[in-house]
Amino acid sequence: MLSHSDCRVGLRGLPPESVDLTVTSPPYGGMRRFGGHEFDWNVFADVANELWRVTKPGGILCWQEGEEVIRTGPRKGSYSGLPTAHAMYLQDLGFLRWDRLITGVTGIRCPDAGKRYLCPPTDLFVLTKGEPKNVALLEDRLNSTVGKHRRTTDRRADGTLRIRKPYGATKEMGRRTTIWLYPAGASTTRDAGVRREFPALMIEALARDLILSYSLPGDLVLDPFAGACTTGKLALLLDRKFVGFEVHEPYFQMGAERLRVAAGAAALARSKRCFA
Ligand SMILES: C[S@@+](CC[C@H](N)C(=O)[O-])C[C@H]1O[C@@H](n2cnc3c(N)ncnc32)[C@H](O)[C@@H]1O
Repeated sequence: MLSHSDCRVGLRGLPPESVDLTVTSPPYGGMRRFGGHEFDWNVFADVANELWRVTKPGGILCWQEGEEVIRTGPRKGSYSGLPTAHAMYLQDLGFLRWDRLITGVTGIRCPDAGKRYLCPPTDLFVLTKGEPKNVALLEDRLNSTVGKHRRTTDRRADGTLRIRKPYGATKEMGRRTTIWLYPAGASTTRDAGVRREFPALMIEALARDLILSYSLPGDLVLDPFAGACTTGKLALLLDRKFVGFEVHEPYFQMGAERLRVAAGAAALARSKRCFA
């Protein structure tokens, strides 16, 4: 369900402790005024308080926020640091900082690229209400030694080398790291119209990976800043339920259409499974 409303109002309509997973990307400070709507500290704090209220014990909040470049004044040209301040506020509310992922799109230039390295990182804070109840870490199988026997060394407390017995590298070692980079283009979305019209899409592969990592089929997934509804689309395709809010009418329409198509595809996939 996607609602055309300010999420500060919409969230108040959700029952307490009803959401299993939130996957969201708020506006990056004042970098873009989506339909003229402000995202200042007061708006953030209202939303954060509501997110704490609606999250189930053991539930998870994935908060992806990129840095805004300050455009005027003595700090002109520098990053605002707001994502870190927001994460601290969420921690003060009671969320646990469970993980911190660095996400990015390869090939993207930083603002003022001549003075910064390529591919600006975007913080993704994984915050939990108590110990998380559903975590299924992804494997990338990048580590070619998984399952093979190899000899390794470590060091004793006095610093001298110790050769350890050969052992089979565990599955653990094939796990993805906390740095999640996606290629630009197709991994964003195949919905070409949305890619053209919406200025700040979450990468679909990222939404998919977060939903698979931190929820189960049937869980309720929330996105208070739904935009073109990438989280919602992937939630439905992965057999989760979805609730979202979008304040700006044209984006709401875009998101609603994407959800409608995803709901159809998910229903078709379910019926194929039934008759398989
Ligand atoms: C960074 S975009 C989210 C993009 C989304 N993850 C996607 O992939 O489509 C932020 C969205 O939040 C919306 N927004 C800003 N303030 C809002 C508010 N108070 N309530 C609901 N939506 C809001 C903006 O209109 C914008 O579409």
